[in-house]
Amino acid sequence: MIVTTKQLFEQAYGEYALGAYNINNTEQVMGLFQGNVDSQAPFIIQISRGARAYSDKRMLEAMIRAADEIFAEAVFAVHLDHGDEETCYDCIESGFYSSVMIDASSFPFEENVAITKRVVDRAHASGVSVEAELGQLGGVEEDISVDEDQVHLTDPKQAAEFIERTGCDSLACAIGTSHGAFKFSGSQSLHFEIVKAIQYLIPGFPLVLHGSSSVPQEEVERINAAGGALKGARGVDPTQYLPAAKLGVCKINIDTDGRLVWTRVHREYFRDHPEVFDFRKPGKVYMDEYARFIASRNELLGSAGHLPEVHAALGA
Ligand code: 13P
Repeated sequence: MIVTTKQLFEQAYGEYALGAYNINNTEQVMGLFQGNVDSQAPFIIQISRGARAYSDKRMLEAMIRAADEIFAEAVFAVHLDHGDEETCYDCIESGFYSSVMIDASSFPFEENVAITKRVVDRAHASGVSVEAELGQLGGVEEDISVDEDQVHLTDPKQAAEFIERTGCDSLACAIGTSHGAFKFSGSQSLHFEIVKAIQYLIPGFPLVLHGSSSVPQEEVERINAAGGALKGARGVDPTQYLPAAKLGVCKINIDTDGRLVWTRVHREYFRDHPEVFDFRKPGKVYMDEYARFIASRNELLGSAGHLPEVHAALGA
């Protein structure tokens, strides 16, 4: 059942974080729903602009509607990941999305405020909630690439002003994570003091962590052993998810890790079965492996096991 992102945040705040997982194709959708139902977790499906361009936005919507029927027990929200203004309006008007992210974080503060406010006004008129971003994450994500010298962490006081002026419903803050598989060259340093300071200034306001894939080293090693070349790939320590959730982080974005599972399964499969050209064979392995991976993330996020209570609270 598709619910609003706001409803899920109200249930999760301060206790656990919702996994926000990106989707692009059928296998990913099937594995994602299976993993969330298996671990009894509510979740958020993210659709990026890249995903909408990869096949067709209607294909993604149709897959989600079908999965909603196949996995009738699932409770989830549908969210636009890293939208520009135009894509946000398209999603708001479609009536399909629970929430949109307007990412105007590369603009100066005043412009970010103005753009975000315009999107919030249009979204709220249609009952859609809005995630905004302040501060800038590094890394590469689809068509967005941010150089190291442009990265800056979120200023908590500015965040409080931004939230007040824009009326946004949640805020992605930059605390040292970055998108992609190469997050840290040295040791990992996440700035939880920023999250704490925002929570102190605006108690109860839902925060979002982007760039949170853990880039499991076992996956990286297996990919490299099967012909890959991912040297130095590193991610976030996933035991940090739950402490972040306790500080008001309600949504934790994980995309890269799912791609790593896909890459490992397919590289190993075709290495070990060079005679095979039926893509359904590794596709089936991937669906099962991805479901297991999702369930393991939900344990770390603390969202596993909360589905019955969400059903009861939302009358689902
Ligand atoms: P990762 O690249 O760490 O998976 O982050 C994904 C993300 O933040 C999507 O918005």
